[in-house]
Amino acid sequence: MTKTKVLTGITTTGTPHLGNYLGAIKPAIEESWRDDIQSYYFLADYHSLIKGRDPKRIHQSSLEIAATWLALGLDTDRVTFYRQSDVPEIMELNWIIGCMTAKGLMNRAHAYKAAVQDNVENEQNDPDFGITMGLFSYPVLMAADILMFGAKKVPVGQDQVQHLEMARDIAKRMNHHYKTKFVLPEAIVDENTSVLNGLDGRKMSKSYDNTIPMFVPEKKLLKLIRKIKTNSLEPGEPKDPSTCTLFQIFSAFATEEEALAKKAQYEAGAGWGDLKNELFEYLNEKLKEPRERYNELLQDPAFIEAELRKGAEKARAEAAPFLRHIRQAVGIKGFV
Ligand code: TRP
Repeated sequence: MTKTKVLTGITTTGTPHLGNYLGAIKPAIEESWRDDIQSYYFLADYHSLIKGRDPKRIHQSSLEIAATWLALGLDTDRVTFYRQSDVPEIMELNWIIGCMTAKGLMNRAHAYKAAVQDNVENEQNDPDFGITMGLFSYPVLMAADILMFGAKKVPVGQDQVQHLEMARDIAKRMNHHYKTKFVLPEAIVDENTSVLNGLDGRKMSKSYDNTIPMFVPEKKLLKLIRKIKTNSLEPGEPKDPSTCTLFQIFSAFATEEEALAKKAQYEAGAGWGDLKNELFEYLNEKLKEPRERYNELLQDPAFIEAELRKGAEKARAEAAPFLRHIRQAVGIKGFV
């Protein structure tokens, strides 16, 4: 059977939260069990330097993200699970394809345009004020991540769709000029699972500081759930689950039956305090076991390191010969 290659990267800034879990980690792990799919999941640690300059945080975030995926049952024998920086061939490909990427294409990248827009709005003289080459050329590195392994499908959030178009564009230019055979990748955006609300009712995101981290201790989990914003309806008054963050989080984890039963409780006027306590009990039950594994893993970084090294070895076994081939195609090769 020819397997479809699925690849995705996780930028190593921050601690994984419930939104990351439902939107990316859970579907990725489930997909990795399919026999018709070959998965590549990696820690995009070089990407993280675009967003953060605190070495300790970047390092800690890599550890936490790796531990999270392992705690949730990722099978590293089935999947190629690696750290971007352990595969130096990616950076070499990044340069080669960067030389085939129009600057004008990068000028149109959303993240860059948003940063310029901020400067203009803040009446900065220089529209490029504070913008690094890392931010500007980020889509090229992302294209290198993807094109290196011939990934066909790339599960990402809506904000990354443009980067996939750019990766296709770069691949086409390479193929046209050098007669290479880069696979043209496609973005996969799951409309159903992608967005979970955070404590304040907006999308759960590190940038809004409204997240519920996956593996916070029990007491902290309860505290965070109690902080979730609700309206001021009293116990006894019927409530609308469809606009309620508590319900949204509950139903993201629950079966359809459980969600229906919960909906009935809302309509019967359950109080917010009870609904919050129940959400805590429910989530805590689901998170208990992986949380224990996660904490054990954090105590054993050597194990995590060995897993990532194993992944890098598998990744490089593909990346090295592929890069050799690309270098030849562009005329970078020995004389004999
Ligand atoms: N830019 C992606 C994000 O912020 C992370 C990422 C880096 C990625 N390289 C990738 C995702 C390659 C998919 C494929 O979400």
